[in-house]
Amino acid sequence: MSQAFTIPEDIRQRMQHWRHAIHAHPETAFEEHNTAELVAQALSSAGIEIERGLAGTGVVGTLRNGEGPVIALRADLDALPIQELGKPGHASTCQGKMHACGHDGHTAMLLGAAAYLARERNFSGTVHFIFQPAEENEGGARVMVEQGLFERFPVSAIYGMHNFPDLPRGRFGICVGTIMASFDTFEIVITGKGSHAAMPDKGIDPVVISAQLVLALQTIVSRRMSATESAVVSVTQIHAGDTWNVIPETLVLRGTVRTLAADVQARVEAQMHTICGGIAQTTGATVKLDYRHGYPCTVNAPAQTAAAIAAAASVVGEANVETAVQPSMGAEDFAFMLERCPGAYIKVGSAESKEDPPLHNPYYDFNDNVLPIGAAYWVALVAQQLPKNQA
Ligand code: NI
Repeated sequence: MSQAFTIPEDIRQRMQHWRHAIHAHPETAFEEHNTAELVAQALSSAGIEIERGLAGTGVVGTLRNGEGPVIALRADLDALPIQELGKPGHASTCQGKMHACGHDGHTAMLLGAAAYLARERNFSGTVHFIFQPAEENEGGARVMVEQGLFERFPVSAIYGMHNFPDLPRGRFGICVGTIMASFDTFEIVITGKGSHAAMPDKGIDPVVISAQLVLALQTIVSRRMSATESAVVSVTQIHAGDTWNVIPETLVLRGTVRTLAADVQARVEAQMHTICGGIAQTTGATVKLDYRHGYPCTVNAPAQTAAAIAAAASVVGEANVETAVQPSMGAEDFAFMLERCPGAYIKVGSAESKEDPPLHNPYYDFNDNVLPIGAAYWVALVAQQLPKNQA
């Protein structure tokens, strides 16, 4: 399939209709009941068999067309707890919730591709369309994997896609290896000894200790990691104290760690424990670190990355596919699926101009002009990886 492929107009219109319906009724993590219902109905009406219930609101559609490889394509269903400030005709009708990351568009594009493939059947093999809940923070992909996604739907490869407003529409971006960072969170509780603020020698001051600790944590990246390694340690919350003249007993710090490699992630965690232990020893306070693993790095496999590049090139031309994009320090729970199955995650450009709102912005609205591009990518990927005449 070397000629440029385009999505027919009737499918484009249906995708826009789905996208606007989902955008108007956003649902957050594990509560995507209406969205899952829309997806299930759209798949069923295309003649695609469905299975519901993985991770609660997850939907998996299965389209078989003769002998051939079995692959999975994945989209995410969930919205964010953000109040929409933009005023498109399909604006959120749910107070405090909106599709600010374009998962409405991702779902519509995969539904469009499924409808097209079910109608044209221009492939030989089996495609599983995975619609997962709770991509944001809650790791719906992990839950689907834990509940037996790949045992029930064994596949040789899995593919994911996300829109990126920092790439112009009409371009794709991808790289072999890590494309999205790992995402961990931590909480540190410093327990000192409360005292009168005028007599600090009678207590152990967790506020001063927290200042030492924040600075010490910053030396993990600046002094312990090689300059060629990538990591971010951010303390994002400090909570302590209620008044002017009391040194508080306890203080809580929270924050996040991002890395681009599992070994770096492990070393940051180990360093944090060392620093907390050292500061406890020198100050006499108790410093308790609770380090929580969030999402692993999203790591693209070489063969599937090549397949993704070929599919993207057949839609937008080779010159418009960036094949070595810089990885993002953002995270993505598709990483859990890639831990279990080789695959590739591609960024589809969605910006019309540099002024477009970024992801997670209250004025963000998925660019409908991207719908036919993303759907065409899925269709091209299936046509290329499950060729009709191979069996
Ligand atoms: Ni997202």
